[in-house]
Amino acid sequence: MSKNDLNIHGIFPVPIAVAETGNEFDNEHQKLIRDTEYIINPYSSNGNRFDYDTSNSTHVLDTEDVPNIRNFILSHVNEYSKVLFGNTDELVFTQSWIMRHPEHQHMFTHRHTNSAISGSYYLQCTEEDANLNLHKDTKEGQIGLPVIRPTTIDSMINDFNCDVTTVPAITGKLILFPSWLQHSMGSGEMDPGRELTGTPDPSKYRYVLAFNTWWNHPIGVERNLNRL
Ligand SMILES: [Fe+2]
Repeated sequence: MSKNDLNIHGIFPVPIAVAETGNEFDNEHQKLIRDTEYIINPYSSNGNRFDYDTSNSTHVLDTEDVPNIRNFILSHVNEYSKVLFGNTDELVFTQSWIMRHPEHQHMFTHRHTNSAISGSYYLQCTEEDANLNLHKDTKEGQIGLPVIRPTTIDSMINDFNCDVTTVPAITGKLILFPSWLQHSMGSGEMDPGRELTGTPDPSKYRYVLAFNTWWNHPIGVERNLNRL
């Protein structure tokens, strides 16, 4: 490399983590699906169905009934925490819940508060199901260029200038991300407001386990005035 070459460095990249169990824990997948009670989202005023139902419990992993799923997720959360925070302090689940999508698969863009690491674990989905979108934070003063992406310039799209990264949904897949990172589900091609037609097929329901975490002891430093 000569002295006039341009060197480009990535600074402060955001790590996400992905791991898969495949069908290894299918008994526990089915147990969670079968034994969970759901709060059915009400029909909206125009008669259309909302996108998903949520589990009545917001502590579905606080049980001895699904030890493999629980241990798999928690051990990976704590491995990932070492990379994300450079710290070995243990994280625990604060809340965990299941989202059931009988027909539509859409989740608005959001982030999780009062949590360190969040994630999704797919209990049941198909290859056609909507993926998880992770969004770059838009900052004040960010330049808004028109999005023109013909295939001829696809090579110009990279980790620095893209604004969405999509992770495919597969049964048994775990995706971990910092809780502040915005995420969504579905794509612009879907119409979350379309009318429910007939009775959805339960075998095609999509089930996603989601969770938040926090440290199981006080954090921060007294002398730095940031102790919690
Ligand atoms: Fe979320």
